[in-house]
Amino acid sequence: MNLIVAVDANWAIGLGGDQLCYIPADLKRFQALTTGHPVLLGRKTLATFPGGRPLKNRRNLILSADPAFQPEGAEVFRTMEEALNAAPADTFVIGGESVYRQALPFCDTAYVTKIDKAFPADRWFPNLDEDPAWEVTETEGPFEHEGLGYAYVTYRRRGLSEALRSTGHTMGFAPAPGIPVSSIDFSSDRS
Ligand SMILES: NC(=O)c1ccc[n+]([C@@H]2O[C@H](COP(=O)([O-])OP(=O)(O)OC[C@H]3O[C@@H](n4cnc5c(N)ncnc54)[C@H](OP(=O)(O)O)[C@@H]3O)[C@@H](O)[C@H]2O)c1
Repeated sequence: MNLIVAVDANWAIGLGGDQLCYIPADLKRFQALTTGHPVLLGRKTLATFPGGRPLKNRRNLILSADPAFQPEGAEVFRTMEEALNAAPADTFVIGGESVYRQALPFCDTAYVTKIDKAFPADRWFPNLDEDPAWEVTETEGPFEHEGLGYAYVTYRRRGLSEALRSTGHTMGFAPAPGIPVSSIDFSSDRS
């Protein structure tokens, strides 16, 4: 699976239930990369979308333990295990923090927009620069929007051969190689 995230200089991703900032070119890139692919997200991230509606032209796989939560045009899963079983290998994990943390072991490619500023924040993404399991394979930029510098950095899980990537080894609820299922914490942030 893939993930896509925008992080600030401290790998922060959100404050008060919203994004830290909106960069139009980054939103377009998000649209271009994810359209036509399933997206996996938490109930709180869905609430940040216009009208709280699922994304168009994508299968929306949404996590919520609330049995009453049934938004139109989306599939709701009550556990991460169920969501992962339903998620094809070309799925993009799109947040927020709780979903990124649970799904990261199942991802092999991370599209990270790095924003060159430290914002006040209350949600973070794990720092992939400090995680030896990940390596940078591509960088585009730096770019600038209204004085805000940013770059697109692609990370891949180390040691994965192209053959493994293209066959979608993460299908069927299996973590990436080297990560025992027993080590994964599926508890969600219900705060
Ligand atoms: N910068 C970025 O790229 C980016 C991207 C996305 C989001 N964000 C930001 O991230 C923040 C939201 O992150 P968050 O961690 O607070 O919320 P979240 O991950 O979007 O959603 C959390 C909710 O998802 C459900 N959930 C998560 N894991 C589950 C599980 N294993 N089983 C069942 N349900 C599960 C629960 O819903 P119920 O409470 O209904 O059970 C939980 O309260 C916002 O500030 C948002 O703007 C930033």
